Amino acid sequence: MNNITIAVDGPAGAGKSTIAKIIAKKLKINYIDTGAMYRAFTYLIVSKNIDFNNKIEIQRELKNVKIEFLNNHIYLNDKIVDSEIRTDIVNKNVSNIAKLDYVREHLVNLQKIIAQKGNTIMDGRDIGTNVIPDAKYKFFITASLAERGKRRHKQLIKTANDISLSQTIKSIEKRDIIDATRQVSPLIKAHDAIEIDTTNKTIDDTVEIILNYIREGGN
Ligand code: CDP
Repeated sequence: MNNITIAVDGPAGAGKSTIAKIIAKKLKINYIDTGAMYRAFTYLIVSKNIDFNNKIEIQRELKNVKIEFLNNHIYLNDKIVDSEIRTDIVNKNVSNIAKLDYVREHLVNLQKIIAQKGNTIMDGRDIGTNVIPDAKYKFFITASLAERGKRRHKQLIKTANDISLSQTIKSIEKRDIIDATRQVSPLIKAHDAIEIDTTNKTIDDTVEIILNYIREGGN
């Protein structure tokens, strides 16, 4: 299959990245986790103790920051930050950084450049609506809040994060509200995206639905 672009959006913990990674492998295309880019930039801002209202400082950091994906790792200014970007402090703050219009403008530009190379599956919140609105395939992956909380909690406790299920649910719910109500490109299903509710579906079920759809050329 040549030059295929796939946009995957949806709320926190719906399984987008797990699903997108498997599809990338099966179709031998690149996977770009745009959430990881917002997370990496948030990690930089919180580790430098920069106030979120300090537009000048944040803009200076944006101008100099280098965020790259290489061999399935995310690099922030040449350093691998795979685990740093999944910590509680980043979870708590990322949506407040991601709602800043000038942060989005910068990262969306980078994402558009990556997507232009083609053969990419990209996941996030505004991929089908804003980053690659002309993507051939668009999916909007959802699940109930309780199910998303359960899935995220399972992931978090694996990495020794001491967090309860109810705290996890509250935390993703808070993030969803900020993401869905922000002024600039909020989390919303693109009118031409296929919505898949994965509450009662396994990862394999969802991957199969998406692959079948792509095999049929989107019909
Ligand atoms: O994996 P999870 O569902 O926890 O979220 P993520 O994809 O890692 O994204 C983390 C946060 O980055 C989201 O809650 C959004 O605030 C922001 N984000 C965004 O605004 N736009 C995107 N395209 C991707 C992520």
